[in-house]
Formats: sequence, structure tokens, C-alpha cells
Amino acid sequence: MSLFVTFEGPEGSGKSTQARLLYSYLHARGYPVILVREPGGTRIGDLIRRIVLDLQHTEMADTTEMLLFSAARAQLVNEVIRPYLEQGGIVLCDRYADSTYAYQGYGLGRDMNELRTLTAIATGGLLPDVTIYLDLTADEGLERKRRKRQEQDAGRAAPPLNLPSELPRLGGAEGRGPIEWNRLDAREVAYHRRVAEGYRKLIAQEPERWRAFDACQAIDALAGQIAGELEPWLEHIQMLETTTPDTQ
Ligand code: TYD
Repeated sequence: MSLFVTFEGPEGSGKSTQARLLYSYLHARGYPVILVREPGGTRIGDLIRRIVLDLQHTEMADTTEMLLFSAARAQLVNEVIRPYLEQGGIVLCDRYADSTYAYQGYGLGRDMNELRTLTAIATGGLLPDVTIYLDLTADEGLERKRRKRQEQDAGRAAPPLNLPSELPRLGGAEGRGPIEWNRLDAREVAYHRRVAEGYRKLIAQEPERWRAFDACQAIDALAGQIAGELEPWLEHIQMLETTTPDTQ
């Protein structure tokens, strides 16, 4: 048995922080677990990430954007996610295909059936077992992200989270690196509102897969709820035989 968990939410929802905390928790308990993010998570995917999120690439066609996100996903699934799941591990993925449905589908208005076909090609049909949704309005999320950037620019950024040193280095806005303001963040508020509304529709279509949490709670309280929600799945995961002592 393996477990594939994805994290979704609008900008500034704190899902990357929660994904890292969950990784840290599972790793400390001796579970075989990896944390990856989209777009990225592979050498090729990281290059695609730079192209697709670059603020200067204002001329990028919507079709190109949709194909690039899918290309990065295809690489990540083939190179990292599927092999790890086949070994019985837990994969935590910060954004996955639902981001394409929310951002390119509801946000940009791309045809949903077309996106589903493209996603099936990119992922070979691999679906998450559970998707954690951090619920926040688009306005609150953008405001949070703007505030963090201002604090960062003023040298008042919150200290990095105290997580194990073996945590994969993801870069970007994951609580360690600088807050990124990318090409998609820079889109109009109405776009981000459509994305957040789109997520609600996706949840309503498949309520059994999604677990929604109020993103306005304290970080630790939220982390506890997310870990608790996954407990039933963990019973089926084989622990690592030798665990590395936690260095925290
Ligand atoms: P990132 O800095 O990782 O933002 P976040 O911390 O919010 O995940 O940038 C990823 C951006 O790419 C984010 O704005 C969402 C967007 N995105 C899509 O539009 N489609 C996709 O399929 C994926 C995976 C991400």
C-alpha cells in the first residue's frame, strides 16, 4: 500500500508550510515519505517552473502555460511520484492536477474536458488518494502574501520554521526561501477569485477525495488536524526498518 496526498489552495493559503510540517511529522515517525512541489520537483520540472512563472514572460499564450504545467507534471510523475508509490511510500505533493483545473480551467476559462484529457496523458491517470484543501478567500490570500513580502522587504520576515535538516530543499515560498511574486500572482484579483471559486466546485464534484480546512487557524492547530485526518491511511503503510533520529 502507498499513499498519495496532494495539497491545494489559493495563493497565500499556507499549504506549502503545512506540507512541510506534515512531511516532518511523518518522517520523524519513521514513515517512508517524500515531499515534492509543482511545478518543479525534478531537474527538468525546475527549468519549466522558471519559464512558466517568470514575471517577464508576459507574452506567454494560455495554451503554452497549460502545456508547460502539464509537461512538468508528466516529468514529476514519471521520474519521482510513481516510482516512490510503487515502493509503498507516501508522496506529499504541493499542488497537482487540481491546480490546473482551478487556475487554467476556472481561472483562465480553458475547456475542462481538454484539461482532463491532457492531465490523463501527463499523469497516466494517477489520482491522489486524498487532497488537503486550505480554505481561504482569494482576497485574504493575496493580502497575506503581500504582507509577507512587505515584511520581508523591511527585513522583518518571520524566522524560518525549525524543520529537520534532511527536509528536501524546495526553494521559493516554502517558509525558508524568499517569498516569490510570480507571473500568476500578478494576475488581477478577479482571476484569483475565479480560482478560489473553482476549487469550491472541484470539491463539490468529488467530496470523498477532498479534505477542506480553515486556513485562518493557528499553524500548529491546523497541522494537528491534517495529521489526524491521515491517520486511517497510515495504518496500511509499512514503516522504514531503520529510522534516522530526528535532529530537531
Ligand atoms: P508557487 O510559488 O509555487 O505558488 P504557491 O506557493 O501558491 O504554490 O507558484 C505556483 C503557481 O503556479 C501558483 O500561482 C499556482 C500556479 N499553477 C497553475 O496555474 N497551474 C498548475 O497546474 C500548477 C501546478 C500551478
